[in-house]
Amino acid sequence: MQAIRIGLLGLGTVGSGTAEVLQKNAAEISRRLGREVRLAMVSSRDAAKARSVCPDAQYMADPFELVRHPDVDIVVELFGGTQIAKDLVLEAVENGKHVVTANKKLLAEYGNEIFALAGRKNVMVQFEAAVAGGIPIIKALREGMSANRIKSIMGIINGTSNFILSEMREKGSPFAQVLKQAQELGYAEADPTFDIEGHDAGHKITIMSALAFGTPVNFGACYLEGISKLDARDIRYAEELGYRVKLLGITRLSEKGVELRVHPTLLPECRLLANVNGVMNAVRVNADMVGETLYYGAGAGALPTASAVVADIIDISRLLSADSGHRVPYLAFQPGRLQEVHFLSMDEITSSYYLRVQAADKAGVLGSIANILAGEGISIEALIQKGVLDNNQAEIVILTHSTVEQNIRRAIPRIEAEASVSAPVVMIRMESLND
Ligand code: HSE
Repeated sequence: MQAIRIGLLGLGTVGSGTAEVLQKNAAEISRRLGREVRLAMVSSRDAAKARSVCPDAQYMADPFELVRHPDVDIVVELFGGTQIAKDLVLEAVENGKHVVTANKKLLAEYGNEIFALAGRKNVMVQFEAAVAGGIPIIKALREGMSANRIKSIMGIINGTSNFILSEMREKGSPFAQVLKQAQELGYAEADPTFDIEGHDAGHKITIMSALAFGTPVNFGACYLEGISKLDARDIRYAEELGYRVKLLGITRLSEKGVELRVHPTLLPECRLLANVNGVMNAVRVNADMVGETLYYGAGAGALPTASAVVADIIDISRLLSADSGHRVPYLAFQPGRLQEVHFLSMDEITSSYYLRVQAADKAGVLGSIANILAGEGISIEALIQKGVLDNNQAEIVILTHSTVEQNIRRAIPRIEAEASVSAPVVMIRMESLND
């Protein structure tokens, strides 16, 4: 049987890893697939690197020439970013090439357009590596869960943020110091905004949300709040109360619509998800028939991410001769059966909350805060005075029961308006994982 011919775009970390996996595991891959996978062509900025990493592949200076080339069966897009990557993917699809990409930003922002064209052109677009690196979560959601109605997904899906939060908790260090350490270790980029402000996690949870609920991808509906404003004190107080703080991507189906959000979240420390540390990723899926399942592994890195890329190449190769009507749909549901849904605004979501209030240490302060919360219909689970600061200010930590966020958003300015309250209220959302 003729070899499957790969055209590889990009030789960064994941591109080089993909070349390595295809070379190192060539025999195992062909034993699984029944035919050879050949890295036929490569395009990257660095021609010398291309020759040393993929000595047997033909180098193409112009990536557009590669995506149109008749000797390429599958284009593997690992350039990242959106502008050139989008043009290349659309051009590849237009030319009848199947596509594998690890580009979460591209799919979260332009996935609908790409899948629509791919459907018209009868080609496959696979993206296992776009979410949680080496964890086969796309396969699990699209295929393993297909007998279920998915209820919610919660994921630690940004390793950089998880590393920073783990270090802040273990060492009590401030955010800025740990970020510097993460940059020195090569986990965080020189410009870390994308990771620490929740964009990367937002792209990933947006893709998973569409797969879970059968909707078009809608990154614009995703609420993003990162970890850069977190105070190590709140991580310590949370721990004293039996919680860990994690940056979570959350999507949940409720009677009112779909929640889609990324933000720091307190999790009970007894939960597996709360114990995922360092750069590791984990995704918890709750579905009506199977119940709770949890997927754990490396969310980044050359070989784990390349493992997902190559698995997609193998999947496509197996399905090349299958009738296109029998392929797994791009977004898990038949393209014509995707449903527009209402995405809840943050005012409409339901959560529990951690609040930290700094106020004068005098009689009646706790009572007035409790009254404000009660007035907004918020039930208190715990209320603890953490100690008195030098200036006779007390720190009060409150955990609430589940409530609609607009109640909290009304209560906070009322608390801050109290004469005894001397600093903005800190609010962190909290999930019990009891759903
Ligand atoms: N930068 C991401 C992370 C990996 O820190 O998890 C790629 O999405």
